[in-house]
Formats: sequence, C-alpha cells, structure tokens
Amino acid sequence: GQNQKLKGKKVLVTAGGTMERLDPVRYLTNDSSGKMGFAVAEAARLMGADVTLVAGRTTEPPPQGVTVVRTESAADMLEAVEARFHEADIVVKAAAVADYRPAQVHEQKLKKTGERLVLELERTTDILATIGERKTHQFLVGFAAETEQLEQYAMDKLRRKHCDLIVANDVSREGAGFNGDTNAVEVYGPEGLVEALPLMSKRATAVRLMELIHDRLAAGGGS
Ligand code: PMT
Repeated sequence: GQNQKLKGKKVLVTAGGTMERLDPVRYLTNDSSGKMGFAVAEAARLMGADVTLVAGRTTEPPPQGVTVVRTESAADMLEAVEARFHEADIVVKAAAVADYRPAQVHEQKLKKTGERLVLELERTTDILATIGERKTHQFLVGFAAETEQLEQYAMDKLRRKHCDLIVANDVSREGAGFNGDTNAVEVYGPEGLVEALPLMSKRATAVRLMELIHDRLAAGGGS
C-alpha cells in the first residue's frame, strides 16, 4: 500500500445485504452489492490494517488480503460481529441489514392457494446499536441510507447507535448508494457535518473515509 497509517490496527467491516429466509427456496433481501463495504475493507488493507470482512449477500468477489466471514441473515451477521467486536480497533458497518424478517420460517416450500397470502414480519436486532451499547475502545462508524432529511436522520442514528462517525448516503441521488460503482456521501461526527464528499468512485470514497477515521483516532477521538 501507499502508506501504512493503519498498521497494527484491527478493522472489522460489514458489507452486502442480509437474506431473511421465508422457506427453503425463498427469502427477503435488498439491493446491496457489497461494493461499498468491500472498498472500505480494501482501503483499510492498503493502509496496513489487519482486516476482517463480515459479508452478507454480495455480487462481487471480496478484496484480496482480508479475512472473509460469510453470513446470511441479520441474526448470523450479529453473531459474527459480536464474536469479533471485542478485538477490533475500528468497526465500519456498510452492510444493509434487514430491519424485518419473516416471523415464521417454513420448513417446506410454501404452497400456493387461491387465497391472498399475508406475510407477518418481525423486527431483527439492530447490530450497530447492540455493539454501540457495548463499545469500550472501538471507533465505531455506521452508514445511513436515506432518501430524505439526510442530516437529521444521520445525526439521529449517530446518537442513538453511539457511533463516532456516520456516513450518510442519499440513496435517491443518481450515482449514489446501492449497487453502482460510485457514491456521494456526507460524513457526520458528534459535532455535525465533518465532510461532504463529491460524487466519486466507492474506492476513492473509502480511501477518504479511512483517512478521516485515522485522523480522528490520531487526534484521540472515539469512544
Ligand atoms: O453494497 P452497495 O451496493 O455498494 O451499497 C452501499 C450501501 C448503500 C448499502 C451502503 O453505502 C449503506 O448505506 N449501507 C447501510 C445501509 C443501511 O442499512 O442503512 P440504515 O440506515 O438502514 O442502517 C443504519 C446503520 O445501522 C448501518 O450501518 C447498518 O449496517 C446498521 N444496521 C441497520 C439495521 C440493523 N438491523 N442492524 C444494523 O447494524
């Protein structure tokens, strides 16, 4: 890598979407490709960090040189993150985690009938909020995918989930958010807007984000 600013740091990154099973052949998921989280993992690796990537459903191959842990549901991802959280120095949560899952997981393929079918969903556990409650020395970075009132919702998530930074993307904006190779994000800290990044590649976005994280840690920020 170009510089080794994060040498000796353990970075835990989540990426991709979760899959919530309904029956053996059907599930609920979302549009996350994993590209944003993979770019974060790669940027951290290039800066010398020891990187573990907890990935959900993704469409891309993960970057080289990082430890990859595959997960399916929000519950699996929670377990994988909880098991590795205590030893991490920096946690970046770019995964798009389901807020709801089918209340009942059918063991056999659901049969169609002539009637309409109503699915009951129940809440999943919020992974970020869970580790936010328990953090000791970890620098915690969340993402926020919003379609309106970016700043207000991002600051609300930062406070509620005890994050040190929140990366807010306006996913309704052309070229930003789910699936593409580019993003346009605003980074918020406890004091408010830290930096608004222009529309650029997810890789460049990730490099800038890791630099901001490094600078804050070096300045004694976090926890
Ligand atoms: O993967 P790509 O195709 O590259 O797309 C990138 C992205 C749009 C998915 C990414 O940039 C992004 O915004 N990820 C977070 C998406 C999201 O779930 O946002 P949210 O506002 O619903 O959640 C806020 C934060 O809480 C996120 O850090 C999320 O990981 C976390 N969360 C949410 C729900 C839950 N049950 N557990 C969580 O930890």
